Amino acid sequence: MNNKSIGVFDSGLGGLTAVKQIMNELPNESIIYFGDTGRVPYGTRSRDTILKYTRGDIRFLKTFDVKIIVIACGTASSAALPMIKDEFDVPIVGVIDAAVYAAVRATKNKRIGVIGTQGTIRSGEYEKQITAYDPEMKVFNRACPMFVPLVENGYFDTPVTKLIVEEYLEEIRDEGVDTLILGCTHYPLLAKAIGEYMGDGVKLINSGAEVAKYLKKKLHDETAHSENTDETQYRYYVSDDVAGFEELGSIFLEREINGQVSKIDIERY
Ligand code: DGL
Repeated sequence: MNNKSIGVFDSGLGGLTAVKQIMNELPNESIIYFGDTGRVPYGTRSRDTILKYTRGDIRFLKTFDVKIIVIACGTASSAALPMIKDEFDVPIVGVIDAAVYAAVRATKNKRIGVIGTQGTIRSGEYEKQITAYDPEMKVFNRACPMFVPLVENGYFDTPVTKLIVEEYLEEIRDEGVDTLILGCTHYPLLAKAIGEYMGDGVKLINSGAEVAKYLKKKLHDETAHSENTDETQYRYYVSDDVAGFEELGSIFLEREINGQVSKIDIERY
């Protein structure tokens, strides 16, 4: 048993898709969340910049003596984690493995779509891992750079959201995929618009939620889970506007987070 907190980070709101599921799966765990809202988006940055940001985010979370760090960001998980995972003396998990595991089990026709940021798609990490499971799998990739600003501005299901969804997903839909990996943790916030466009026959894989399920198994297997029933704490840190994060974060998590969010200077880490 280990009652230390779990550290989770993303470039902004997207990682809350993992936090929400961790709260459901592991209700006794305390969580420290960092959303790098001052430097979002990560997905359009060079690999060097993503590496620099990822290292800084991990160093910040380590100041809380967390027991594990979840990179709830597809971009940092694919473009940085393989390079930096041995640099730190804390276990670090990313979203790719868990999402791939769910997708290869879900597909019946072996045609999987992957959508993510430019950084994630450019890394080729999803395709590499899916075809390592089964070389017969066909993977159809598409970067969707306008999705993250839609989410960060609260455009979850508006007419403009639907138009952009159609623009990005038409080719993947026409390829007849039966499974679509939402390879950026922001995208589940657009799941309604994406699901309606893709149709009922396509299973959406929420990479944030999948990493939470993986985390539950890992912590229990290693008896590193918390049995703390009365003192579960959630704290949120951002690198820019607190009020905007409190507002959208409360809507998405369906719990009030006002007063639990603080601003930090991430450049110090
Ligand atoms: N939510 C992140 C991801 O999963 C980052 C998106 C971004 O900042 O571009 O890729």
